[in-house]
Amino acid sequence: MKITIVGAGNVGATAAQITVDKALANYVVLLDIVEGIPQGKALDIQQSAAIQYSDTKIIGTNTYEQTANSDIVVITAGLPRKPGMSRDDLVTTNADIVKNATIQSVKYSPNAIIIVVSNPLDVMTYVSFVNSHLPRNKVIGMSGVLDTARFKSFICAALNVSIENVNAIVLGGHGDSMVPLDRYTTVAGIPLTDLLPKERIDAMLERTRNGGAEIVKHLKTGSAYYAPAASIVQMIDAIVHNRSRIMTCCVYLQGEFGYSDICLGVPVKIGSRGMEEIVNIKLSDNEKKAFDKSASDVREMINKLKK
Ligand code: NAI
Ligand code: 2OP
Repeated sequence: MKITIVGAGNVGATAAQITVDKALANYVVLLDIVEGIPQGKALDIQQSAAIQYSDTKIIGTNTYEQTANSDIVVITAGLPRKPGMSRDDLVTTNADIVKNATIQSVKYSPNAIIIVVSNPLDVMTYVSFVNSHLPRNKVIGMSGVLDTARFKSFICAALNVSIENVNAIVLGGHGDSMVPLDRYTTVAGIPLTDLLPKERIDAMLERTRNGGAEIVKHLKTGSAYYAPAASIVQMIDAIVHNRSRIMTCCVYLQGEFGYSDICLGVPVKIGSRGMEEIVNIKLSDNEKKAFDKSASDVREMINKLKK
């Protein structure tokens, strides 16, 4: 197993470190355009592997040749959000970066599964999918794992229960109009709606939608990276161990949930072939309305890019 991570910034380097710590691959390649950064970080992570007793080898590079024959490529290259900036402000700059990263990665690793992370996530997944010329099961965006983790962490805190008891789901675009589904959220099998009053659930749903912005506001010079990196690694783990694990990921839709020619976050099964299946769930009228709004925000950005 060889895993390339494009972008050795906060998210990419942290994902590389967790991947190496967990020994999820034989080789990890960390690539960035800035000379020295991926090399220095890779060396540091390699030395940390000696403490973690991980035999995974990691190298840093500025060229795609060394990424050849990767099984998984994670694209985190791009600019992060600054305070006051929406994910959508990043669209054109990151589209060029993601397009180039995709074309170069596929050139050297034609069999790879691509995990897209750069924002705005749904649009970048679309850009990567279209430019990869890969089947849709091989290009998967990371968003729902993170959004769901945020929602779950707020539920744990509100009820003072173990994370192991909480099951939740967040659909739609990774934007301010994402769709956390309280109706499908349970705590030890008990519907969340039986455990907390509507106002408290609504406040948690709102905090989940603003989860990224809340952290940007604190950090001031960048955006979240520990939970995003852990989310990427959960997807890598599902692929490496062929877990057929259901999680929300951003994938190219061909009629599912009533949408085509768009990438959106929906429940999918992740295993060794990447996205193995889209799990169709019934949405209530209100949930469908929220999903439609989220889809229309993503569609608008895709259309802007096409102009
Ligand atoms: P960062 O600024 O720390 O790292 C980005 C790295 O990409 C930098 O090291 C930069 O040199 C590199 N880079 C820029 N252009 C490149 C190119 N053409 N080729 C290779 N590397 C290039 O940013 P951070 O915090 O790591 O975030 C990375 C991206 O991930 C951002 O777009 C951010 O918005 C997004 N993100 C998405 C999340 C999600 O849930 N999907 C969660 C967190 C971040
Ligand atoms: C987040 O949700 C910025 O998309 C990133 O933290």
